[in-house]
Amino acid sequence: MKFFIDTANLDEIKEAQELGVLDGVTTNPSLMAKEGITGKENILNHYLKICEIVDGDVSAEVIGTSFEEMIMEGEELAKLHPQIVVKIPMIKDGVKAIKYFTDRGIKTNCTLVFSSGQALLAAKAGATYVSPFIGRLDDISTDGLLLIDEIRKIYHNYNVKTQILAASVRHTMHVVNCAKIGADVMTGPLSAIEGLLRHPLTDSGLEKFLADAQSMNV
Ligand code: G3P
Repeated sequence: MKFFIDTANLDEIKEAQELGVLDGVTTNPSLMAKEGITGKENILNHYLKICEIVDGDVSAEVIGTSFEEMIMEGEELAKLHPQIVVKIPMIKDGVKAIKYFTDRGIKTNCTLVFSSGQALLAAKAGATYVSPFIGRLDDISTDGLLLIDEIRKIYHNYNVKTQILAASVRHTMHVVNCAKIGADVMTGPLSAIEGLLRHPLTDSGLEKFLADAQSMNV
């Protein structure tokens, strides 16, 4: 499973990249706004800075909601850097825009996906990635992981190439469970990735090894 980080914070992206396990970055307008980035030029520059830090795909979301707006924005984003993936919402014009970009060899990430029907539609349009939001489903008492499982089965039935990008991952067990189900990618905060490191037996075991090594005067 690929690890993407879901942030527009350059320090966090650098930290994840330095860990050596980062495969890409996803952003959205809320994450960009959180960094205090304003104005089109600054936004485009910020995407470029992210592309310089990581080697993999970087999702940049369109703001327009009409087919024409999404095409215009998406083409500009795609031209910016070869790592850019155009992130498009799961709406009627969004599906048309995904098909348009697919036909032109431009990578897309279909976002705001909350049902397997939507995931099927995104795949039919040829999306590179589909982003089911598992945390936001959990927030309303609906098991987000069940959606990942359902999409995995549907895509398996038809050998679909669209990659399942489990989004809105909130914690480490989401990461582990997405891997168990077979999501192609997960995107979440750095804390969810770092949580994978922790085990009390690792800490106590290391403490003992270091104490014993010290007794040998090395
Ligand atoms: O980038 C989309 C998604 O990962 C958002 O996550 O935590 O805002 O539900 P969250």
